[in-house]
Amino acid sequence: MNATHFEGSLPAQEFSNILLDEVENGIYRLTINRPKTLNALNADTLKEMDAAIEILEADPSARVLLITGAGEKSFVAGADIEHMSHLTPIEGKAFAEQGMRIFRRLETLRIPVVALVNGYALGGGCELAMSCDFILAAENAKFGQPEVNLGITPGFGGSQRLTRLVGRAMAMELLVTGRTMSAEEAMRRGLVNHVYPQAELADEGMKLAAMIAGKSSSAIQLTKQLVQRGQDLDLDNACVMESDLFGLSFSTEDRQEGMSAFLENRKAKFS
Ligand code: COA
Repeated sequence: MNATHFEGSLPAQEFSNILLDEVENGIYRLTINRPKTLNALNADTLKEMDAAIEILEADPSARVLLITGAGEKSFVAGADIEHMSHLTPIEGKAFAEQGMRIFRRLETLRIPVVALVNGYALGGGCELAMSCDFILAAENAKFGQPEVNLGITPGFGGSQRLTRLVGRAMAMELLVTGRTMSAEEAMRRGLVNHVYPQAELADEGMKLAAMIAGKSSSAIQLTKQLVQRGQDLDLDNACVMESDLFGLSFSTEDRQEGMSAFLENRKAKFS
């Protein structure tokens, strides 16, 4: 499939700042494609990401989304500083709200979203990676929220998601010093799931995506909801949601097939 042009039931799309391609059936890859600025995010790039999410939301066969950056040096080196240097306070707030809304849309997308961090993930790049369900990183990846060095705060959720992911004390250290973390440190601190040599990251991402795509998509989508929605609820309400969705999963063909396959000693074939 063409990397930026969709036909058939999907709306035709031409992107200039991102690439969206269906690498294999149901496995999509979104690449932030502004290598001259180390894939910095400006308002147009965010708009295109929004449109890409729209396409995925409309495709019932979508199973997994991988997000990465073009080139070998950077995932996303932050929000675009040149773009931000011209913004008034009101426009700055609107820019933060745009990023916030799109990252939340990504976080609550029904399918799993995996960040393949292939270099710098700074500021908005770290915030983008943290809005994914989890992160695989290349050995050269660098994570950080260096906004204090620019005299601003994080604006796309960094102060909140970093705190939830690495704990308050470490988040405070990273936010007030603006220092960067290596991939190895990010893994030790629970931000990253796995670290791979740079040359292997894309293949490892595809292997993982294929494994997810071969499982019951209804069970995976309900599980994602449980984790993403449940983490912000109190335990009682989160457990009520789990029993509700557990019950709901019994209505699916996948439950029928998964349990029959186990009892008949064969591999399940999910629809
Ligand atoms: N916004 C806009 N442009 C950016 C950018 C950003 N966040 N990050 C990098 N770029 C641009 C640089 O201005 C440079 O453009 P030029 O070639 O026209 O001069 C190009 O990308 C390459 O960056 P450069 O700084 O030359 O690469 P480097 O290898 O020396 O350093 C970084 C890499 C990531 C350490 C450095 O670019 C950097 O600190 N970027 C900003 C990170 C940041 O503060 N992010 C948070 C923003 S809220």
